[in-house]
Parts: sequence; C-alpha cells; structure tokens
Amino acid sequence: MPLVTSKLMLEDARRGKYGVAAFNIENMEMVQTVLATAAELQAPVMIQTTPGTIKYAGVEMLAAMVRTAAKSCPVPVALHLDHGESFDLAVQTLRAGYTSIMIDGSKLPFAENIAVSRRVVEMSHAVGIPVEAELGKVGGKEDGLEVSDKSASFTDPAEAKEFVFKTGIDSLAVAIGTAHGFYKGEPKLDFERLAEIRKIVDIILVLHGASGVPDDMVRKAITLGVSKVNFATELRAALTRGVREALVDQSIIDPKKFMVSGKKAVQEIVKQKIILCGSANKAIA
Ligand code: 13P
Repeated sequence: MPLVTSKLMLEDARRGKYGVAAFNIENMEMVQTVLATAAELQAPVMIQTTPGTIKYAGVEMLAAMVRTAAKSCPVPVALHLDHGESFDLAVQTLRAGYTSIMIDGSKLPFAENIAVSRRVVEMSHAVGIPVEAELGKVGGKEDGLEVSDKSASFTDPAEAKEFVFKTGIDSLAVAIGTAHGFYKGEPKLDFERLAEIRKIVDIILVLHGASGVPDDMVRKAITLGVSKVNFATELRAALTRGVREALVDQSIIDPKKFMVSGKKAVQEIVKQKIILCGSANKAIA
C-alpha cells in the first residue's frame, strides 16, 4: 500500500497499549527485510533514516526505495526522518515524500529547541505530516551524532508539558536513561520519570536507544505509555555479522550471495523486536 503517516498508527498503538517498532535502515536489503518481516507478522511498522544515512544514500534514493517497497507491502509503513538536525532537512525530506518527521533540537537551549520545533511543526502540519521532537538528551552515538555521558540529560516533566504546548508536536522523544549504541553495563531507566511525563503530557511518547535494552524494560516502558520504540544498532550489527559469516567462504564474490546471510540475521532481530513491542497482528490491512 502507499506510505502512510505515522499519526494514525501511533494513535492506534497508544489506544491498544502496544508499541510500533521503528527501524533505522542503511540500504535496500534492510528495507526489504524489515517490510517482509512486518508483512509476515501483520505489524504496522516505521522505517527511519538518520541524516548520516541520507548523506550516504541521498534523500530521493531513500524515499523512492521505501515508497516502492511499501507499495507491494500489505501492512501500513511510514517513512520517518530520525534526528532531523535542521529545518532545511525537514523540508527536503518532506519534499522527497517522507511521511513522518523528527526535528531534534535537543542540543539547543530550551527556547531555541521550541522555536525550531515549532517552525517544523507549522510547515509539516500544512501538508498533514506529523512531527516528533526531543527534550532532554538521549546519550550515546547515533550515526555521527554523539552525546557524551556527561552532557546526556533526562527530560524534565514540567518542561515537557510547556514544550509540547508551545511547539504543537505530535510525539515526544523522552530521555529517561536509554542511550544510542550498545550499553557498557545494564541500562538504568527512570520509569518514575516516564510515568510522571505520561501523566502530564498528552501526546505520543517515543523511546530512543532501545538496542541492548532488556526486553522486560522495553515492555515496562510500553506499559507506562511509550508508543514508538526505536531500534538501530542491533540491526546494523546483525547485518554486518551475517555478511562476515558468509564472507568466511573466500569463494563468495557475489553481493547477492553474502547479503542473504546478512538479511537473515536482520530478519531475526526485526521479528523479535516486533513481537516484543506487541505490534504483531495489529495491522489493519
Ligand atoms: P539504538 O541504536 O540504540 O537502537 O537507538 C536507535 C534510535 O534511537 C534511533 O533514533
């Protein structure tokens, strides 16, 4: 089916108390694998790309690829800009056909984060596209964007309320202790803070940095009100592992051959994450 916006699928998830899994992709093989797995599990799904991936592959290429793959996919698919770093990139992705936008002004002072998020909301809402923004700073490294442990900071619930009111965003990425990339020890999530934010903010909540977060913690975050869960690092690592394993056989020189092994490894992760988020069989195709 044609790409859909993330608006309805996330509202359905909130009502149904499950999470939509949002997967970062780097190439065609990852798009094919995510969509085939979502179709097999009858799950609505989000595909997302960082500015780094857009720089690598080009926004038109990525949008055309995901749009084409979604056309023959029987479940709802939204194409989302992850960690959009500027108003300009938001415009470029919208023009290319993205159906969901994140503007990440979390590194800016509060008032500037509000201003840029508000500007992206006004522009995106004019063409019916929902917007996610971030308050507080999720730590770790995501495709070239790095937040040191020292400068990572949690979302303040009272500020979140003001931020949502002043920006008009559709969903809020919360910083409650997750980080992008793999964790050194067990992550410590501030569930009380999440519950407090859920109580006073009435829009969709998003959990970033879910690779390596134990399953019971992801489930708890969903129970407490998260409706979108982002996975990137585990997929990248799986693709690379699968390809490496295949390339041990020196006679393989055809990318179509070693990619099969990479895709299989990604498929296992995608399947597990969709089931974990509870979105299997939730597609209203
Ligand atoms: P991970 O790389 O930790 O899965 O985080 C993904 C993410 O939050 C993308 O925005």
